[in-house]
Amino acid sequence: MSNLESILTENRIFPPNPAFSARARIDSKAAYDRLVAEAEADYEGFWARLAREFVTWDTPFSTVLDAHRAPHYRWFTEGRLNASVNCIDRHLPTKANKIALIAEADDGSVRHISYQQLHDQVAQLANGLRSLGIAQGDRVIIYMPMIPEASIAMLACARIGAIHSVVFGGFSAEALRDRINDTGARLIITADGGMRGGRAVPLKAAVDKAIEAGCPSVEKVVVYERIGNACLTEGRDIAWATLTAAQPSTCPPVMVEAEHPLFLLYTSGSTGKPKGVQHSTGGFLVNACMTNAWVFDLTDDDVYWCTADVGWITGHSYVTYGPLALGVTQVMFEGIPSYPDGGRFWQMIERHKVSVFYTAPTAIRALMKLGDAIPAQYDLTSLRLLGTVGEPINPEAWMWYHRVIGAERCPIADTWWQTETGAHMIAPLPGAIATKPGSCTLPLPGIIADIVDDEGNPVGHNQGGNLVIKKPWPSMIRTIWGDDARFARSYFPEKLKGYYLAGDSARRDDDGYFWIMGRIDDVLNVSGHRLGTMEIESALVAHPKVAEAAVVGKPHEIKGEAVVAFVVCKGERPQGAEAEAMVNTLRDWVAEQIGPIAKPDDIRFGDNLPKTRSGKIMRRLLRGIAIGELPQGDVSTLENPAILEQLLGK
Ligand code: PRX
Repeated sequence: MSNLESILTENRIFPPNPAFSARARIDSKAAYDRLVAEAEADYEGFWARLAREFVTWDTPFSTVLDAHRAPHYRWFTEGRLNASVNCIDRHLPTKANKIALIAEADDGSVRHISYQQLHDQVAQLANGLRSLGIAQGDRVIIYMPMIPEASIAMLACARIGAIHSVVFGGFSAEALRDRINDTGARLIITADGGMRGGRAVPLKAAVDKAIEAGCPSVEKVVVYERIGNACLTEGRDIAWATLTAAQPSTCPPVMVEAEHPLFLLYTSGSTGKPKGVQHSTGGFLVNACMTNAWVFDLTDDDVYWCTADVGWITGHSYVTYGPLALGVTQVMFEGIPSYPDGGRFWQMIERHKVSVFYTAPTAIRALMKLGDAIPAQYDLTSLRLLGTVGEPINPEAWMWYHRVIGAERCPIADTWWQTETGAHMIAPLPGAIATKPGSCTLPLPGIIADIVDDEGNPVGHNQGGNLVIKKPWPSMIRTIWGDDARFARSYFPEKLKGYYLAGDSARRDDDGYFWIMGRIDDVLNVSGHRLGTMEIESALVAHPKVAEAAVVGKPHEIKGEAVVAFVVCKGERPQGAEAEAMVNTLRDWVAEQIGPIAKPDDIRFGDNLPKTRSGKIMRRLLRGIAIGELPQGDVSTLENPAILEQLLGK
């Protein structure tokens, strides 16, 4: 709550930097207001204009929005296009030799890849995939390190109409298998490994383990050799180099319908099973382009760097698709901010003359802790805009970012959005909107956001409520793969009048600025990554010694939230050295079941969990216990009050 309190008393305001506004696409509050008014006056006309301005269509659309099957909205129905053509081919006449990717590996070595080279490599891989029988609509899993080949793999799928699903390289073999099986993928594209902080991440080994455990749909595995350790299974695996060697460097693109799924991306919800969020091709590209142009104000001279992994939505909209569709030069980084030391980000900004930099509050907080002297060693004057995403940024970290990294010159774009929204929803247009530390400011033009109570009625200023989007927008989630009912139930609950329910609580201040307060469901935000508490609980109870488990979050200085697990073991409650050993066993177990990001920071053992008489676990009480407080207030519905003291360790 301390974060919320500090945010509530935050009243600093930073008007746009005039030098920035002078060259910005949207250069004043009046220009922003005009766009908002344009969208209000003619919603479909507004989006049609942007769709024509930003995206190259092979067949033009005539319908803008089709709401017949709401909430399964369809956009730009008759339009046909190809995402890889938008990201590559359309730039070739004017900038074939422009650098698309500056790829810095973990060890500091750098590769430059031009738009022409990107084109050729995407075409060769796309032809290779075709030679393996992959066709439009087939699902392909991508499990790669943060190297250009990850984006190349995504674009090669898009070229032939295959639907990719990128799985974050930090997820375990178990988590990978679940995603493979949910998509029914025929093919996996992976690497023998990746390098992070000087250590190899064995990706191929995880793929082998997943397939051994049962992935009946998988026919082939393409393996990019990154660390010189490729071990290929006869008949199933094929080396990337072998597959692409003899392939032509042109590949006719498949022009898909606007609604054709470009990708699936799994994210956590409040029930155990991750959701395969399905995005379209046309609508997704419209918002991805529009936000890179408006929020990041990317132009031809920029060197842009988003530090997100392609395994997350940020890596889709703000690494692979958006920036390439605008034809900019971007930095891609394989490693981690702390290796070889905490100056890595700043050194890279100096080295590559980065002008627009987009990262997460958790990284900002971790680097802030190292002090001002480290960034002071580097020349950061190339920077003109800073961005953040993933969780609310605390005003202290915002101010540090502004003062020490941005030299009080660079606007900060705090961008609120989600895997499901596909692109920024609420964020400052930096040449137009004054910023306040900790607020994502105002909805983008065309995004009709509001805060409502549980019946869908607007709440007053400074009152907390549900953040909703009242009208469909082009890059919105289309469905949950294989589960239309869950899609409708989760995002368009009946009582909310057809609004999109984001699952976040928020408030609006007297200036109409939005302040995100956190999730309303059982979803944790650990280092900007979404983790379902049920998902971690299911992993814990899958351990043979665990009878029951409940997971809650507690505030954490760097990660935002930390995972706390309350566990009831089969047999006696472990104590002393036995409990310590069990903690380590369970932490490793969760890492194996989901991935290291889900490891509980704190595990407490009890004879039982606090439950109501009807058997429901009282998470509210557990959240208090997690921060060391004996719950105040009403515990009369509790079946077993004595358990509270035991869990508190009193
Ligand atoms: O709770 C919000 C938080 O992250 C959630 C979305 O997570 P995910 O789908 O993994 O996407 C992360 C990257 C877009 C949201 O429901 N969140 C994201 N950005 C912000 C944020 N909370 C506050 N401020 C933000 N700028």
